[in-house]
Amino acid sequence: MYRTMYCGELRPSHIGQKVTLAGWVHRQRDHGGVTFIDLRDRSGVVQIVGNPEVPGAAMIREARVEWVLQVTGMVRRRPEGAENPNLPTGEVEVEVLECEALNPAKPLPFVVNKDEDVDENVRLKYRYLDLRRERMQRNLILRHRVVKFIRDYLDQQGFIEVETPILFKTTPEGARDYLVPSRVHPGCFYALPQSPQQLKQLLMVAGVDRYFQIARCFRDEDLRGDRQPEFTQLDLEMSFVHRDDVLNMVEGLFTAMLPVVAPHKKLLASPWPKLSYTEALERFGTDKPDLRFGMELYDVSDIFASSGFMVFQNTLKTGGVIKCIVVPGCAEYTRKEVDDLTSFAREQGAKGLATLALTAEGVKGTAQKFITSEETAALRERTGAGEGDLILFVADQKTVANKTLSALRLLFRDRLQLADRNTMAFAWIVDFPMFEWNEEEQKWDAAHHPFTMPRLEDLSKFDTDPGSILSDAYDMVCNGYEMASGSIRIHRRDIQFKIFQLLGLKEADIQQKFGHMLEAFEYGAPPHGGIAPGIDRLVMLLADEPNIREVIAFPKNQAARDLMADAPSPATDKQLAELHIRVELPKEEQG
Ligand code: AMO
Ligand code: AMP
Repeated sequence: MYRTMYCGELRPSHIGQKVTLAGWVHRQRDHGGVTFIDLRDRSGVVQIVGNPEVPGAAMIREARVEWVLQVTGMVRRRPEGAENPNLPTGEVEVEVLECEALNPAKPLPFVVNKDEDVDENVRLKYRYLDLRRERMQRNLILRHRVVKFIRDYLDQQGFIEVETPILFKTTPEGARDYLVPSRVHPGCFYALPQSPQQLKQLLMVAGVDRYFQIARCFRDEDLRGDRQPEFTQLDLEMSFVHRDDVLNMVEGLFTAMLPVVAPHKKLLASPWPKLSYTEALERFGTDKPDLRFGMELYDVSDIFASSGFMVFQNTLKTGGVIKCIVVPGCAEYTRKEVDDLTSFAREQGAKGLATLALTAEGVKGTAQKFITSEETAALRERTGAGEGDLILFVADQKTVANKTLSALRLLFRDRLQLADRNTMAFAWIVDFPMFEWNEEEQKWDAAHHPFTMPRLEDLSKFDTDPGSILSDAYDMVCNGYEMASGSIRIHRRDIQFKIFQLLGLKEADIQQKFGHMLEAFEYGAPPHGGIAPGIDRLVMLLADEPNIREVIAFPKNQAARDLMADAPSPATDKQLAELHIRVELPKEEQG
């Protein structure tokens, strides 16, 4: 037997017992010839004492940090005054009888026994060492608990978990596909699924009724803190449901999960608030609002309808809006601080930032000389702004004003610490538009994905005004992140075909890419809908981590590389020949 128990399990009830432990040297120190080691395994650490007169304890002195040891010894109470109340094992220690080094270790590239800032590239190169750190172990365990809870809960709700293929065909979710060349079919490629979307719908056609999967998804897209090229969804789909059946199911799941996996986290509201897409944009400037704090956006265009401020006048004349937020207690901001905010606003795409500061000595700010006292009074009335507050205005097209003020709102959330990190502000965003206009390609895109059911009462607007068609899509948001997306799906061939056409696909294309879906809808497809929460984002929030890399065991870096294994890497000529592939490097990477 390598060990009789885990290090972190030792308690006063074990005093007098002989135990064998195995683990890593977490820390080591010498006190007048007596050696102390903190021995660590997954469960925690325990203090080991090596007395010089015990021959079997010799290895305790030789060992260095992160060596792997097997230790046999007697559990005893720590001497009075030497207890460590911060450690679950802090009342006891193990006096060594025998110690064997199972494996020595070179000095590590960084310390793992403290939560120190280490360059992320170094952490990712030595991820197996990084994962030894307590914080990372905690994250892995939390993730396990979340997934385990989901599986148990959905099982009880009558869902069955079905695995779907990774080698498949293109599944559009708005990113590029990762392709895998086929050796046996020269010139042909599988696409890794951007999500199991088509397959879960086909499972509904198959009569599975309630499906879920902890599903890996692959998307070649620009990476950010909340995006990885491969990530995990809780993918689920239900037959014979309306929108609210899906929402209630998922709300029930997350509401039940929270006290079990993260009891210190509290729901902001139950039932969760439901906002329309339009309302979310009006009030928060974004379709993924952080609802933990106020500071809402106000449209004050009407107040400035006859403004003498050229910037405001010109904006209104060209169909734009004037929107503002009220920053509490920042009226005394310096010129430099306001300039910095203005630069920030410009980075978001705004042409500038106008300010009005309600100070004790009167109204100040860059817009003060252009704003009348009547307008100021109307602003106070509309927004509730009072003495000490700073009002920030953006005059622009609605999309730009919303984007800029939403970003400023989040900037002040962090700067003024307006949001409580232990509050989970889940909410539903509903009534999304079906289509978005793609300026670049001058065509309509699906706002969610092409399988989403448009509002049937809007179908008449198909040929006249696609932009105004609403869909049965919904998002689940939390603390400023999009946590999940879903929709009621199209289950009729004629509607699905029309959507593909409207998205600019030619008939032959539709047939080649989605013929299997259209055909399936002709064999008795039930009405169905579903959703897919991102597991990585959820665990990131529950773990208070700043990005999803911290909750993924082996993530890619921001350049989509695995620094540990050095992937991606070139294939050999033999492999390429077998795959019928010739590589043509871009000029800058040649020679
Ligand atoms: P969608 O593309 O919105 O919908 O994705 C659903 C959720 O998956 C998570 N997510 C990601 N997480 C990490 N890295 C990424 N690159 C990434 N992309 C998405 C987010 C997001 O809300 N098939 C549909 C769902 C459905 O309609 O049922 C879909 O994939 O949390
Ligand atoms: P200007 O007339 O361009 O010198 O701008 C006067 C003030 O208005 C400056 O503080 C600008 O930052 C601000 N400003 C300019 N354009 C906008 C805009 N579109 N929205 C809000 N403020 C603006």
